[in-house]
Amino acid sequence: MHTGLLGPPGSSAVLFVAHTERPITEAEEKGYRKMCAASRKMVVFYACLCYDDELTFRGEMMRKKRPFGCLYFLIGLLFLVMFWYWQNYTLQIVRYTLSYAELPQGFDGYKIAHISDMHGMAFGYKNSTLARRIREFNPDIVVCTGDMISSHAKDGQAFLDFLESMGDQYPIYMCLGNHEQIAEWKELESESEYGYDAFIRKVREYGVRILNNETEILEKDGDQIRIIGLTLALYHYSRRDEPYADENLLLKTPYIEEAVGRAGEGFNLLLVHNPSYFREYTAWGADLILVGHMHGGVIRIPFKGGLLSPEHVFFPEFDAGLFEEGTGKMIVNRGLGNSAIQMRLFNRPELTEITLKSVP
Ligand SMILES: [Fe+2]
Repeated sequence: MHTGLLGPPGSSAVLFVAHTERPITEAEEKGYRKMCAASRKMVVFYACLCYDDELTFRGEMMRKKRPFGCLYFLIGLLFLVMFWYWQNYTLQIVRYTLSYAELPQGFDGYKIAHISDMHGMAFGYKNSTLARRIREFNPDIVVCTGDMISSHAKDGQAFLDFLESMGDQYPIYMCLGNHEQIAEWKELESESEYGYDAFIRKVREYGVRILNNETEILEKDGDQIRIIGLTLALYHYSRRDEPYADENLLLKTPYIEEAVGRAGEGFNLLLVHNPSYFREYTAWGADLILVGHMHGGVIRIPFKGGLLSPEHVFFPEFDAGLFEEGTGKMIVNRGLGNSAIQMRLFNRPELTEITLKSVP
């Protein structure tokens, strides 16, 4: 009598064979079953070659129970869910210290909390976690660089909740993103209550200064700098696959001058939504440009950067982080929420904390 487990190395299924000269007894069959049950393989076929060489499968297929297999699967699934949650629903604080010779001495140590592209995303009840993290930074101002509501104008409550959680402790400045502009346009088109006007009204009631091609003066310790909110035309957000995309995606310094005037002497802090025109912003005279829009490229490929821009450009030049040109610096915030693509990978929602330094 020959018995054994047959199967290729590393396979999860094996065949149990009992080659006998006589019919196997019940006791033998019981023993074989025990042997199969003890196997570490997942599936064992129990079989018997009878003494007359007639192949008869007396035993039924036995599925080896893997008591830990299900546990491994659940642990793997739990890990994936936790990783997904961590990647998409937890804040990453990104800190910068930027030095400028042009910055007035009074603004040395000036702190700016920067958020962008909320798109209805909430961190904690009524966005209280986001508000708490900003309060921990204790900034001089909070800036929001657009897309605080999506173009369907149905997810603005998250931003209103955030403003309620923030209270009136810090001045909050906001520029408009393409989603606010589309929402406004849709409201005008439909000539009905679309939701945008009501949203903007409430934002203003919370004391937010919306800089729609407007400039204000910031003061600190007797010194002043300018904060400018630039609203781009919607065609500056054309997708690459749209007609005339190349022409639409051009922006020249005169456009900025027409919208917000010439850059003044001294330090200019520019809030604008789209980072694609960094060189034009610096040519205009911006010293620090705070932007969003790119959502970090949705998926960040290690050593390569953000995968896709909202304009359907692969690996856009200004995807996230700090960029410098001459004395001009631009910080691209990766945003808090999502728009067309409802996911993030290696690209956690960002709160930016900026500290300015005045260097002689
Ligand atoms: Fe956005």
